[in-house]
Amino acid sequence: MITENHEFMNDVLILALESSCDETAVAVVKNGRDVLSNVIDSQIKLHSEYGGVVPEIASRKHIERISQVTEKALTEAQIKLKDITAIAVTYGPGLVGALLVGVSFAKAVSFASGIPLIGIHHIEGHISANYIENKDLRPPFVCLVVSGGHSHLVIVRDYGGYEVIGRTRDDAAGEAFDKIARALGLGYPGGPAIDSVSREGNPEAICFPRGKVDGAEFDFSFSGLKSAVINTMNSSRMKGEEVKVADVAASFQRAVVDVLVERSMEAVRRYGFPAFAIAGGVAANTSLREAFQAACEKERVAFYHPSSGLCTDNAAMIGVAGYHEFRKGVRSGYDLNAVADLKIGMR
Ligand code: KG4
Ligand code: ZN
Repeated sequence: MITENHEFMNDVLILALESSCDETAVAVVKNGRDVLSNVIDSQIKLHSEYGGVVPEIASRKHIERISQVTEKALTEAQIKLKDITAIAVTYGPGLVGALLVGVSFAKAVSFASGIPLIGIHHIEGHISANYIENKDLRPPFVCLVVSGGHSHLVIVRDYGGYEVIGRTRDDAAGEAFDKIARALGLGYPGGPAIDSVSREGNPEAICFPRGKVDGAEFDFSFSGLKSAVINTMNSSRMKGEEVKVADVAASFQRAVVDVLVERSMEAVRRYGFPAFAIAGGVAANTSLREAFQAACEKERVAFYHPSSGLCTDNAAMIGVAGYHEFRKGVRSGYDLNAVADLKIGMR
């Protein structure tokens, strides 16, 4: 049993919930940087049987798990619900049925307890993950957000103040990793599989195209690259040649990394901020991190990234974003709804 805790009386304690895709995640975050608990109930095994996330299964699993995961997060943090300052919940973008579980649960807990509710943008959460382990990181900085659903170049002007300067025109970077991994028979999720198999391959074996978007220097396009990889594999198979999976994976990965680094460094030079950060699931990629480390050293800007576990979906990042929204006075009403295609910077 947890006893009454006066220690936290002047602290801002955020109970954060994240259910936008295939992780049921709940965390308790203190004063925007200290993670007291971060529980992630992953459904990856369930979905890997189908080669990708099945939305209906994701929603059902969130419903089954969200109460227990919340209890576990409070217990691990040694915090009682009544000591929580605000409840932060991801309300978009993501799978609408999955988001609705977290949003409905958060609204119910908020209504029953009287604790204020704050709806959080998932991408704002990913960016905020950088504040957890990098205690010296402060806006302004340029941030590249690369996940399964998003590839955005963002200017972080202030805590919670964003300007999107570039985005993907087609596939997100993580989506490209997942699709190519499936084509190579590496399973789901594809990013970690390609990351690991690429270590055995030659990134210069095949020169895949580095997509550019005319007239939009900070935008990305990965569909041409994806088609080129699939065409290369098909033509090798038709000629009866062996497809060297590690070489294809490493060459594909190199092409993605090159494009992301080139566009990002262009933004770093243009805006002149002293720091650059990456966020989102793809930010866990080893080769991407190494390339950014080198590029940032060359540009003489500080390079920040969350540790791998905080790059992929989690609720601690939502708690950090929730803290900053709370400090700005943002509160959501009980009409808060899940918004599958929520744009960054919108409320
Ligand atoms: O941020 P996230 O957990 O979920 C979304 O908001 O989409 O990102 C998941 C994506 C997946 O596409 C996964 O393949 C990719 O991140 N990913 C990686 C790595 N780890 C996860 N991509 C490349 N290399 C990795 N090590
Ligand atoms: Zn995410």
